[in-house]
Amino acid sequence: MHVSHPHPKPRIDARSRATVFVMGIRMSEHDSTRPHSSEYFGEERNFFWNADFLDLMAARLALGRVRRAADLGCGVGHWSALLLPRLAPGASLVGIDREPRHVADYLARLQGGGRVEALTADARHLPLPDGAFDLATCQTLLLHLPDPEAALAEMIRITAPGGLVLCAEPNNLVARLPFGGAMVEEPPDRLVRRSEFAWRQVLGRARRGKGAEYVGELLPGLFARLGLEDVKVWLSDKAHPHIPPFSSPAEIAMAAAWERWRTEGVGPYERAEIRDNVLAGGGSESFFEAAWRDFVGEDAPGDASAAGGVLLYLIAGRRPGRRRSGASSAPERRANSAPLH
Ligand SMILES: C[S@@+](CC[C@H](N)C(=O)[O-])C[C@H]1O[C@@H](n2cnc3c(N)ncnc32)[C@H](O)[C@@H]1O
Repeated sequence: MHVSHPHPKPRIDARSRATVFVMGIRMSEHDSTRPHSSEYFGEERNFFWNADFLDLMAARLALGRVRRAADLGCGVGHWSALLLPRLAPGASLVGIDREPRHVADYLARLQGGGRVEALTADARHLPLPDGAFDLATCQTLLLHLPDPEAALAEMIRITAPGGLVLCAEPNNLVARLPFGGAMVEEPPDRLVRRSEFAWRQVLGRARRGKGAEYVGELLPGLFARLGLEDVKVWLSDKAHPHIPPFSSPAEIAMAAAWERWRTEGVGPYERAEIRDNVLAGGGSESFFEAAWRDFVGEDAPGDASAAGGVLLYLIAGRRPGRRRSGASSAPERRANSAPLH
């Protein structure tokens, strides 16, 4: 089956559409030959947000007053590129990633003159001073970390009193569940098996210390526990509809991503990694084999449309205290004493 696109023609098959979207997920262990998340840096990342929704959020959060910002786990700059034009004129932005290759690509993408810098570092141990930023932010970083609270504590530490901590993180469990237009054509027992497959993958991945794909659900509580104030949560209003013949730029980009993952055996098609996750999530070998056949098998339903909803949260909190007051309030002490790094 093909989506309509002049050239090249990305192929999307029915099983891909049934699974809908997996945002920002990386399911393979980091190694020296393939930097973390590199398989997820395709064009599809340009379609995570509606621009006018980000304008609204920028107004609500007064991003126009931010003069110094840090983007942790910045990758090749997709999130930074959206934020930078919404910050104060002349604002500085520092991207931080543990992968030197991403940092180089980040600088190339942002091309911000003197305003944009980047450094290679672990988000959980930042070589940056306390209180140096008006905004510390990340997008789809924390779902990859076994200890997201460590990175969050660093975000709080480098944020000035009164400054903003802002995380865009999903609940990808929802994206893995089999729903969408195709589900009505599937036998219930297979839908149940595919749902169990999703749960066991996600829980097993977290148990293996590779991060919680549902981290978005945990963050509001974690923000409060680490002493952030004025905690607010929103959902991206971006849906990713699939409407045959799949010809919009977003559909074409997503189809290309699925094709890339399928042909390279990465991401959602990385069998060994997913098997390990399912087993760690309490699934048996025979369960994995059956569920894997469901996922990659040829007996998937045909053309189907879907509304393409995902759960991508935007979670915001303020570091207590007045800007640069130096006063040590009780909530601030709580934030600073988190035994996390
Ligand atoms: C899914 S990508 C997101 C990239 C970017 N924030 C975006 O939204 O396009 C996750 C990024 O986090 C980086 N990363 C993972 N663990 C990290 C860590 N401990 N410290 C710093 N960066 C890390 C990866 O190298 C990768 O670039």
